[in-house]
Amino acid sequence: MADLQESLKAVNKDKAERTDIERCREDFPILARKVHGKPLAFLDNAASSQMPDVVMHAYTDYHSRYHANVHRGVHLLSQEATSAMEQAREDIRELINAGSAKEIIFTSGATDAINLVMQSWGRANIGEGDEIIISTMEHHSNIVPWRMLCDEKGAVLKVIPISDEGVLDLDAYASMFSNRTKLVGIVYVSNTLGTINPVDEMTRIARAHDVAVLVDGAQAVSHLKVDVQQIDCDFFVTSGHKMYGPTGIGILYGKQELMEKMPPWRGGGDMILSVSFDEVIYNDLPYKFEAGTPHIAGAIGMGKAANYIKTVGYDAIHHKEQELLMYATEKLQAIDGLRIIGTSPEKSSVISFVVDGIHPHDIGTVLDLEGVAVRTGHHCTQPLMERLGIVATTRASMAMYNRKEEIDQLVTALHKATEIFR
Ligand code: ALA
Repeated sequence: MADLQESLKAVNKDKAERTDIERCREDFPILARKVHGKPLAFLDNAASSQMPDVVMHAYTDYHSRYHANVHRGVHLLSQEATSAMEQAREDIRELINAGSAKEIIFTSGATDAINLVMQSWGRANIGEGDEIIISTMEHHSNIVPWRMLCDEKGAVLKVIPISDEGVLDLDAYASMFSNRTKLVGIVYVSNTLGTINPVDEMTRIARAHDVAVLVDGAQAVSHLKVDVQQIDCDFFVTSGHKMYGPTGIGILYGKQELMEKMPPWRGGGDMILSVSFDEVIYNDLPYKFEAGTPHIAGAIGMGKAANYIKTVGYDAIHHKEQELLMYATEKLQAIDGLRIIGTSPEKSSVISFVVDGIHPHDIGTVLDLEGVAVRTGHHCTQPLMERLGIVATTRASMAMYNRKEEIDQLVTALHKATEIFR
């Protein structure tokens, strides 16, 4: 909580910055709608954040003015589509500070990007008896592909333990390496707990053992300044729809030197230089990993979302979200029988909780009728739920555009739920 207090002080110091971010809400038209006759309080941003009008405009503009395939046509529409998509690649590169746009591969999302690494790098580099380290708080998307690979190859999946507060045991992590360890796959920000993991330090430890690192940044990019060169990870994945962009698009960042050596995974058009029935010569990065027609509108929208985040600025986003987190934490803690799940000192604006005697789905249903959108369930983290001895939580996840009034709406609706179900 000390960190949150510091954060709040910083917000109050810089009124100008604060005013700017308060205005950003007007850029998200959906936030003005009503749900069941009540103002919408959208607190399900960890599942999908909303899109500002600049992203939606770019998406529609592509369809209405220059809808064409990329990298294939000499005609103007195709050239415009190609240049808009490549500009988006560059805009995303800049956001996460990759060294080159060749290191940004468009995928259908973070899950697809992890599967790409598993299928290409993983199948080429992991053998029988090799070890992959992940953590207890991984999303299924950073568990299932590695479980599949371990089952196929006879490799071993090792899991970093966590405390009851939802903090990784770094001493245990440091002692898990052996000469068979090949990969660490770690989530930057837990979608369920909000825990921010020390990925820089964890990468340094892995590097000392000459082990590759994949960082799942799906829940990080909308909240924290990500610098893949500073983290020094080999791979970084994220999704457009969790950073104010469209669904169905995401990226894999990979170090160029490493990806040059990786075999392609999907085969098809655009990922080749030449094809005969006897031989295929593959395209250069990034196209080697982008077989078939990509989600062009999605890529363009994701690029605009990256620019939108840059315009608002991470300092303002961080201060605003930490202020909301502190406010929501205090208000929720005061509710009788409510227990917050995930109390790491380093947290992003995600609050999972359980309420004595009421199933999260029942809570979610009452909240919905009051206009409050949250997620309920296991949040695609079943092993984490098992470790914490629960089956599900209710999760409120906040974004840059949320307001304290929406937290108040959540709290009032929760009181209603406790009245109904107790
Ligand atoms: N991974 C998304 C979430 O946490 C869907 O809700």
